Formats: sequence, structure tokens, C-alpha cells
Amino acid sequence: MGAPDSAYQSDALIAEDIERYLELHGRKTMLRFITCGSVDDGKSTLIGRLLYDSKMIFEDQLAELHADSKRVGTQGQEIDFALLVDGLAAEREQGITIDVAYRFFATEKRKFIVADTPGHEQYTRNMVTGASTADLAVILVDARKGVLTQTRRHSYLAHLLGIRNMVLAVNKMDLVGYDRAVFDAIVTDYREFAAGIGIEEFVALPISGFKGDNITAPSPNMPWHNGTTLMAHLESVEVDTDRMAKRPFRMAVQWVNRPNLDFRGFAGLIGSGTVRPGDAVRVLPSGRTSRVKAIVTADGELAQAVAGQSITLTLTDEVDCSRGDVIARADAPPQVADQFEATIVWMDEQELLPGRSYWLKIGTQTVSAVVQQLKFQVNVNSMEQLAAKTLELNAIGVGTVATDRPITFEPYADNPDLGGFILIDKISNATVGAGLLHFALRRAENIHWQPLEVSREHHARLKNQRPAVLWLTGLSGAGKSTIANVVSRKLARMNRHTFLLDGDNVRHGLNRDLGFTDADRVENIRRVGEVAKLMTDAGLIVITAFISPFRAEREMVRQMMQPGEFLEIHIDTSLAEAEARDVKGLYKKARSGELKNFTGIDSPYEPPENPELRIDTAAMSVEEAADAIIARLIP
Ligand code: ADX
Repeated sequence: MGAPDSAYQSDALIAEDIERYLELHGRKTMLRFITCGSVDDGKSTLIGRLLYDSKMIFEDQLAELHADSKRVGTQGQEIDFALLVDGLAAEREQGITIDVAYRFFATEKRKFIVADTPGHEQYTRNMVTGASTADLAVILVDARKGVLTQTRRHSYLAHLLGIRNMVLAVNKMDLVGYDRAVFDAIVTDYREFAAGIGIEEFVALPISGFKGDNITAPSPNMPWHNGTTLMAHLESVEVDTDRMAKRPFRMAVQWVNRPNLDFRGFAGLIGSGTVRPGDAVRVLPSGRTSRVKAIVTADGELAQAVAGQSITLTLTDEVDCSRGDVIARADAPPQVADQFEATIVWMDEQELLPGRSYWLKIGTQTVSAVVQQLKFQVNVNSMEQLAAKTLELNAIGVGTVATDRPITFEPYADNPDLGGFILIDKISNATVGAGLLHFALRRAENIHWQPLEVSREHHARLKNQRPAVLWLTGLSGAGKSTIANVVSRKLARMNRHTFLLDGDNVRHGLNRDLGFTDADRVENIRRVGEVAKLMTDAGLIVITAFISPFRAEREMVRQMMQPGEFLEIHIDTSLAEAEARDVKGLYKKARSGELKNFTGIDSPYEPPENPELRIDTAAMSVEEAADAIIARLIP
């Protein structure tokens, strides 16, 4: 599947795209950059200062700023530039949530877009999603603090994201008495780190965003510096701003515009390349081809459109194409696959759990995905590759990602639009990770479904029953195994074919390698889910007795089954009661600290919110509980 990468290398093809781009945009130059640093490194102040010095602040905002600065007691004449940017940020937040806000400013020489990334929490996410198109990164370091872990992490990410122009801005020089030795020591320190991650060159500048030293004018306070200012560097640095325009055409379809039967347009933002009416295109992942009929915009039809423009395309044929599909140049399409190697940046307090199913959003596609396995994580201070089972907040690792259906992608290094993704928690809907796809693992497409001659329906008919999963969940000692055994005995007497999967037993064989960390519990349930699925294919009624403490995995198993086949049964025994019984003596051990990660003590249990059945063991005997479960299964 997928076109060979070498298709992109066709010089003629690229030359044609460049020509079209230049026709459209002339020679105006634009620099996109981001600023990185910790919260207090002075990011807002610096951006405010650049906007102010380039005279892009409107008069009324300026008046307000003076007033605000007085109110918060800024000393002397200086305006608190952080107030400006933060004030705008607050305004922005009242509207719809924007991932990255772009600020525009211009000087006589150049236009600039700086990606302003709101909080520090959102930072990494924004770096990977929106700011990944930056040409340059300003790495801000507080002169008093020097190079921190955060500095290294952001530099590493910026480099990973493909940003090749780095500026090390040693800020707050005024607070260290404009001391050259301080600056030199930081530069030496950073150079050593940078070389280790492959940053070959960077420009180091001593500045004060607050006082304005070396921002637009050479600072009289630091005559020892060579005189370059941040602005002069931003204005003159050479960048390849047409990078995406030079690549083959791709547009991720955002929505299908169908006002009437005569018009069917595909709306989206052109991620790369150019397009003209008559161009041969291919719709991915289906691979169907057609030609561009027209490029429609609010201002009428266009003769061509280029990367960065939002357009609606109409095609000459009635091809299937919907949100999430990608329309691409027919002879140089992106690849389609469902298993990848990727770099993952984790951004959630709760660690990444391999085996857990997350939403993966890439371009306009959203699919279910799991991180199957982590190869290593990177220690951003030493650049060592360490073994990893999970990733914690801010950790960066490399692993295998599998999606539940094929997606259209390109390696991140070639195209950030189709190679950068985010991971979303299915229950909280929070963005928990971001990543970069390296390449597809060919294995996935070579494993085909073997068509079975005896179908699952056939198996079920032979057994004269409807397959089902009775999924018992609850605390250790709640009574799951006991009740499950009685259910299976009673069903056997009714000539039903059942099989009981029990936590304690499965952990002696299939899952012998798993312990009780969150990650291991996720994997435990994933495997049990897969086994239960095979058993329902064989026509069985499967009864499972696992604590299965997390909603996410119970939900995942539910999704694996046919609708109505999965019955979640909460064996609801209070912690106090389970602990009082303590049949296996484990609660006692857990309380004394002898047993770690024990459910209900120092490991969480998330009770079902809408189970098919809740068994209150305080109000029912084991026999009654079993009867209630069977009544729910066979009404
Ligand atoms: S689950 O959380 O991954 O679903 P599972 O049901 O397979 O757990 O196994 C739970 C059984 O393992 C418990 O009934 C108990 O006998 C035993 N066990 C041993 N250590 C622990 C622990 N730390 N937490 C919970 N159960 C434990």
C-alpha cells in the first residue's frame, strides 16, 4: 500500500509547484517563530516588547497598558509588556478555544508570525500541533537560572519538530548586572547540550525583554556583545519559508459542502503544494482518483490555490469522500497504514498506559489507537535512552502505535500536517499526548483476516444459544469468583455452553508476566478481552471475574463485542465489607504496607456508571445474585 517515498523526489514535480507558488506570493518574506522557555523566563514580556517596538500596538491598547502597569505597580517608566500579551490572551479565552494564537507584526524588512502558546501546561501540545510550522525558535533562558531541564526539553522538541534555526536568548541580563561571565557560562553549557542532540548551530544573544536591551537596538549596557540584536537577527535569518508549498498537493477534508443535489464540494485547508482545476487527484485512504473541477472560495473561483489557503474543491467524478479523507496529487499520494513507529510526548498527570485505547487525531482524521509498546524514553538531560513501560508527565519516548483502521499519513519529517498527532483520553476528553509518526511498520498490512469457513453464527447455532460476555467487576474479595462459579453451574444445568475466565487463574498462565501496576492491569484486561472475544466467536457465553478497576478498559472490551453482547455487572461490595471478610488475607498485608498497589487501598477502583446490572452483595445471597444475573441474560 502507499506510494513510494521517492515519488516526492521528482524534481520536475517540485519545480512546477515552486513556480506556481512564486506566481501567487511574489517575493514577500515571512518568518514564523516560536518562543520557548519556562513560565517565568519572560516569554510574554519579550513578545510584548517585540510588538511594541515594531509599533504594532494600537493606541487605545497602549493607553490601557500604561494604566494597567501603574495599577500593578510597575516601577519607573517601563511598561509591563507581559500585561499586554496576557490581557489579549484572557480576551481570547472567552471565545472558542484556540490551540495556538498567532500574533502578527511587521518591520520594513519582514513580516512575522509568532505562535503565542497560552499556558505552560498546554505548551508541549501546542508546540507539536500548531507551532510545528515554525522556521525559528527563540529559546529563552533566565540569566539567573541558566539552562534548565525545561530548556533542554523544549530545545529537544523544537529540534525534533524540524526547526533548524535556534536562538538562545539569555534574558533578564539586567538582573545579573549585564555580566559577560554569566552569559558566557550559559552559552558554553547550552552548546555542550545542543551538540549532543544534533543542533549544529545556534545564535546566542544577551537580552533584557523588560528593559529592551539588544531587542531592537544594541544595548549600551553590554558593549562586550558583538552588537547583533534579536530583531536584526529575526529580520535577516535565512529560512525556507516555502517548504510546504514545494511539496506535493495535499488537503485534509474538513467537511463536505452539499447545499443541493447539484453541488458537492470538499472544504479544507491546503496542507502542502498547489492545486489547479484539471489536476489529477486521489482520495485517501480509498485511493479513488478523479480530477479537480473547480476551486471555490468566498471570493469566487480560483485558477489555483496554494498551501495555507482554505478552499472548497469540486471534482469531476462522484467519488466517495468525507471528513477525515485526504485529497492529494494523484501521482504522489501520501501513505496509508495502521501501525507505526512514533515519538510520543506525554502531557497528562496520569501516565501513558500501553494497551489503553485513546483517540488519535491526525489532520482531520480521528481514530481509536493504542500504544502497543514503548521502545525507550529519552532522558532530556543526558539524552540517554532508558527502558520504559509507561511515560509520565512531560516524558518523551519512542514506541509502536496501532490504529483501529488505516489512516492517511506522511512521516512527520516530510509533512507535519499529516505526521503530527495528538492523543485524547476517551473518558475525560483531555489531550494527554502528542506525537510524531516516523514510518509505517509494514507488518500490519501483511496480516490479513483469514476468512473462516465456520462462521460465528454457525458456532452459535450449533450451541443453540446467543453468545454473551457476563463481565463481573468489583473489588478484591467482593465475591466475583464465587458468584461467577454459581452462574456457570446454573447455566450448565440449563444446557448452556459457558466458560469462566477468572483473574486468579488467568494470572497463573496467559498473564503470568503481569503484575498490578496500572499499566499491567490495562494489559491484563486487554488480553482477557481478546480471549473473551474469541470465545464469543466460538459461540460461548463467557463469564469473567476480574477486578478490572478502570472504566476505560471495560469500555474498550464492550466496544470489541457485538452490540448487546457485553453485560457489565458490578459486584458491589463496600471496601469495609470486603476488608472485613479478607478471605485471602490480602487486605491485611496491604494495610501493613507489605503488599503494594492494592485495589481500594493504594490503587484506584472506578465503579461502573451505567452497568447492565448492579449486585448489592449486602442485600442478596450468592444464589440470588446468580439468579439475578441469569435473569438479565435470559429474560
Ligand atoms: S485486575 O485489576 O488486573 O483486574 P485481577 O482481577 O486480574 O486484577 O486480579 C486480582 C486478584 O489478584 C485479587 O483478587 C487478588 O487475589 C490478587 N492480588 C494480588 N495482588 C493484588 C493487588 N495489588 N491488587 C489487587 N489484587 C491483587
